[in-house]
Amino acid sequence: MCGIVGAIAQRDVSEILLEGLSRLEYRGYDSAGICTVADGKFHCLKTIEKVQALRTEVAKAGCPGGLGIAHTRWATHGGPSVVNAHPHLTERLAMCHNGIIENYQQLKDKLQAQGYQFKSQTDTEVLLCLIDSLVKTGLDTQEAFRQALLQAEGSYALALIDREHPGDLYGARRHSPLVVGLGIGENFLASDVLALLPVTRRFIYLDDGELVHITRGSVEIFNAQGQRVEKDIAESSLDAESISKGRYRHFMQKEIFEQPQALENTAMGRLSADGIAPDAISGLAQHDLSAVDNIKIVACGTSYHAGLVGKYWLEELTGLATSVEIASEYRYRKAVVKENTLFVTISQSGETADTLACLRLAKEQGYLKTLCICNVHSSSLVRESDLSLLTRAGAEIGVASTKAFVTQLLCLLLLSLYLGEVKGTLSAPRRTQLVESIKKLPALCRDALGQDEAIRQLAQEFAGKHHCLFLGRGIMYPIALEGALKLKEISYIHAEGYAAGELKHGPIALIDKDMPVVVVAPDNALLSKLLSNIEEVRARGGLLYIFSTRSLKLKNDAHSRIFTLPDADELLQPLIFTIPLQLLSYHCAVINGTDVDQPRNLAKAVTVE
Ligand code: M6R
Repeated sequence: MCGIVGAIAQRDVSEILLEGLSRLEYRGYDSAGICTVADGKFHCLKTIEKVQALRTEVAKAGCPGGLGIAHTRWATHGGPSVVNAHPHLTERLAMCHNGIIENYQQLKDKLQAQGYQFKSQTDTEVLLCLIDSLVKTGLDTQEAFRQALLQAEGSYALALIDREHPGDLYGARRHSPLVVGLGIGENFLASDVLALLPVTRRFIYLDDGELVHITRGSVEIFNAQGQRVEKDIAESSLDAESISKGRYRHFMQKEIFEQPQALENTAMGRLSADGIAPDAISGLAQHDLSAVDNIKIVACGTSYHAGLVGKYWLEELTGLATSVEIASEYRYRKAVVKENTLFVTISQSGETADTLACLRLAKEQGYLKTLCICNVHSSSLVRESDLSLLTRAGAEIGVASTKAFVTQLLCLLLLSLYLGEVKGTLSAPRRTQLVESIKKLPALCRDALGQDEAIRQLAQEFAGKHHCLFLGRGIMYPIALEGALKLKEISYIHAEGYAAGELKHGPIALIDKDMPVVVVAPDNALLSKLLSNIEEVRARGGLLYIFSTRSLKLKNDAHSRIFTLPDADELLQPLIFTIPLQLLSYHCAVINGTDVDQPRNLAKAVTVE
């Protein structure tokens, strides 16, 4: 989704801005732009190509000045074009925006009546003109900015500059992230700390409704009423290594191979001999969970699939009734909230608009407590939830969620263990057994990664295919859904995940020699049922690719190819069997020549509805 960078310094800031934009590319975008101020003039360049093309234009035309803002845009209002790209400009002001101004049409009608004419189709230009119109009434830029925001409905992170005041940079946020980076004699703004890591490690995270006035030597933050607020400074522990591809060709590939280490980090310090360490979940000291009787999980995309797996664990290990919903559905229906229900959100970014909206809604709906499973400690979701369980996956740059997913799964398993102990549904020997199994998980995942070369070769067979089915049963059904999502999002091959028992209720009609059918078939209680479903495909000439447990010793034949994975505790199989499906999508995408880390039309953090 859109990315913002802003800088104010004694030196020219264009290089800082361009480097920041490059680091935000992973979020997904369709156009980019930069605007600096020098000698009382704007220097603005835009492109509908990649940030590298903008860099080339800056090298040619120059973008001088110690004050500037830059943006990568993911189109919402108005298609991707140079004219719709940010920054937008009036005679005096320039602004970049992430988010959506929902009442832009009403504001636009009013401004048109005042004589404003619009160059773009964007809601951003409308908000900018509103600020401009208030400046023209004699307000200073900061007050005009504040008053305009009081009239704006919707979500935003904004960076604003005024060519008549080259010593001031302004920012504001509501429902879209924005951080202030603190330098020495220079300061910065960005929608993500990753953009500013080359220039600082010290950050102030803005909260909703806050507006910031930044100069080279000062940072002042105000609430929506214009009162000063004091904020803490946080030191980021991210380093350059976490956002470089290292020896890998793509971030996604690197992140798939980082999974054993990521899982070790997730578990680190959180396990005791027979359960969960007392401080494994942040907030437990203030928010007791012993009264929980039901669980509601809400999330989007891959995180939703993690929630679906979590339901199996939670119900089996804790006996607590658990339901899982897609956030964009939950937020618009009249939900019945049962007494003593724990509300759980799952999100890699912690900024997904629908998930965040559900959390805010849940707080008004009488849930017992809210808990989030999230990868970003400074995110809105973590800050606004009663309890949090950080996934500790490290920065995930590839748009396709991989290590974030498996670490979300492990967090859900840890939560199940904790609640199983609290509710008395898990015996001490079973807890000890599970703890031992979790400790073996990184090694089992390393073993699964050993299939990489075999899967790379298999991907050649998928290259010319247009459709694919993924089948699983029980706890492996969500893994089939996730395998299908991964394949479609990065290789653009249409894929569907199905509960294998549903095959004969419709999708079996699709089976023919051109339709690959991927089956996740570990040795578990449902294997015999799944083997019958496999026969149904075989009997209709379908092409089967079966991922199974090594000790089962299934054999290749004319219709099926077998790939084996290590034996493991049944409860851990979802984590292990996810890995070959990620590798399959990755290699198919490479063969299809797609943009693996930034697939078309997709954004890493979906901060708008
Ligand atoms: O940041 P979140 O986990 O809340 O994001 C939710 C989805 O947008 C995300 O999982 C998406 O489905 C991924 N691109 C899938 O790989």
